Amino acid sequence: MEEVIFLRKVFVTALILVLAFASCSFADGVKIGSCIYRFSDAFMLRFRNAMSSESTKEGAELVLADSQNDQATQDSQVDEFIANGVNVLIINPVDRMKSQSIIDKAKSADIPVVFINREPPASILSTYSKAYYVGAKAEESGIEAGEIIAAYFKSHPEADKNKDGKLQFVMLRGENGHQDMILRSRYSVEAISKAGIPPVEIAGAIANWDKLQAMNIMNAFIMSIGPENIEAVIANNDEMALGAVEALKANDYNKGSAEMYIPVVGVDANASALDAMDRGEMLGTVLNDADGQGAAAVKLAVMLAKGQDVSKEVTDGKYIWIPYQKIARGEKK
Ligand code: BGC
Ligand code: CA
Repeated sequence: MEEVIFLRKVFVTALILVLAFASCSFADGVKIGSCIYRFSDAFMLRFRNAMSSESTKEGAELVLADSQNDQATQDSQVDEFIANGVNVLIINPVDRMKSQSIIDKAKSADIPVVFINREPPASILSTYSKAYYVGAKAEESGIEAGEIIAAYFKSHPEADKNKDGKLQFVMLRGENGHQDMILRSRYSVEAISKAGIPPVEIAGAIANWDKLQAMNIMNAFIMSIGPENIEAVIANNDEMALGAVEALKANDYNKGSAEMYIPVVGVDANASALDAMDRGEMLGTVLNDADGQGAAAVKLAVMLAKGQDVSKEVTDGKYIWIPYQKIARGEKK
């Protein structure tokens, strides 16, 4: 049964790719094949749009494939891309720890590969001279999210609800093993403690970057802990922050009353989070620059495909880092 489903997936994937290639006749420009771990991810939608518009600017042809959160599907999409003669790959791995198989495929076809958003370990990236990574430093976003919470706590003494001088927070984590989940969780807490406020995690869970999962988890926390005992919500991304906001609103929190408010921070600066901030439902976020990362990835891919020297574009021979940017409430840009 499983095999049938798998074969069907492979067939559908192959069909999608064939149709995609048929509909865009490649001229002599650069052909980029790109796999996105999951099209339904809100942040990756911004990323895809940025890549598409940069490709248009560069006169390159970009074919995007939805890996549907399945590494085997992604591996066969890469095979199809190579069989169809792409000049370069841009890959958002489903499982960054399994990027070796993608590198091996690219290497044997002798085409460059640019990884995005999910960072392969250096030990894997180093096995191929034409493998690169374009992303943002996860610890930076953690520090900035922590600083937003710390600044709020300092300027709002009433936020220390139990008056113990410590910050009792709830943490909503992204997908297990993702560098952004690991480092944002660690550094946000560290930044709060560096600001002189002892942080206390009273509850935490993995909500896989997902709004609905985060909403259900937050509802459960509100029931078990009581909203009056939660002094902040730290979410590894905006979708989960918005899920927490939904749960809080369903319990009459974060609807405008100063007494019934819990500061919530996320990361990404997706439009829906900026709107929630404007409505006063969410405290802050950190801009994860999808436009900058998407454009940089495509530019690098095009240069690589043309065999140009990229040594001045990258650091440590392999990386392009796009900075994060703090966005506190009211500072919407
Ligand atoms: C973003 C998340 C996104 C994830 C996907 C992170 O950098 O902040 O919103 O779900 O990447 O890999
Ligand atoms: Ca406290």
